[in-house]
Amino acid sequence: MVSEFMLQQTPVARVLEPWRQWVARWPEPAALADAPVSEAIRAWGRLGYPRRAVRLHAAAVAITERHGGVVPTELAALLALPGVGSYTAAAVLSFAHRQRHVVLDTNVRRVLARTLDGRAHPDPAPTAAERARAAALLPQQPAEAAEWAASSMELGALVCTARNPDCPRCPVQDLCRWRALGHPAWDGPPRRGQAWHGTDRQCRGALLASLRDTEEPLARETLVAGWPDPAQAARALAGLLADGLAEETEGRVGLPG
Ligand code: ADE
Repeated sequence: MVSEFMLQQTPVARVLEPWRQWVARWPEPAALADAPVSEAIRAWGRLGYPRRAVRLHAAAVAITERHGGVVPTELAALLALPGVGSYTAAAVLSFAHRQRHVVLDTNVRRVLARTLDGRAHPDPAPTAAERARAAALLPQQPAEAAEWAASSMELGALVCTARNPDCPRCPVQDLCRWRALGHPAWDGPPRRGQAWHGTDRQCRGALLASLRDTEEPLARETLVAGWPDPAQAARALAGLLADGLAEETEGRVGLPG
């Protein structure tokens, strides 16, 4: 569950080391639930989208209070936890418990878009039809379905990659419509890049890094002065406060208790 939270928006290579440290420090949900949320935010480090750290901590608290400290193995109970959506719930149940679920992440969606539709990329968001097709492809036996989920995801992550697909190494190259068509270029809507430089997201990251690196809360002026555009810094700080990633008391800002 920890790895799937981290992998929601971050590639595997960047997750490995923070994940190792996280599970060594908090091997059980109750251990994380006992820690202050500020420590979870610190340990999230530079993984990005740090609201995930706050939600993972809240999920650990809920698991400890409602489920005796054991991650539930039932879909509805998982979906009721903070930060757990259909992707994360299905991934946990499939990879950890070998249940039969449609695990539709961006890697799997790309593999299916290429092999079946002959398109270079999937659409920005999955449609009901796309989900239904993925469900129809899933083997009936739970163990086989779990293997399908893991292998189709790894195929997308390691071979059928977004930018440099390694078709000669692909086990389904002879079935692939995209390859048969000569790898037609993407003709759908412009693909949203993960803009960073100069964005509000970069500014939030910089402010949060300052808060992570200090034990004592910082004066609001000091914090905001570390960023060249004061209006953008004020906006970013408002976002951090609203998202529970920072707390302000008497003009001083720190990580939440
Ligand atoms: N391999 C690539 N991405 C993955 C993910 N999100 N979960 C498990 N295995 C993966």
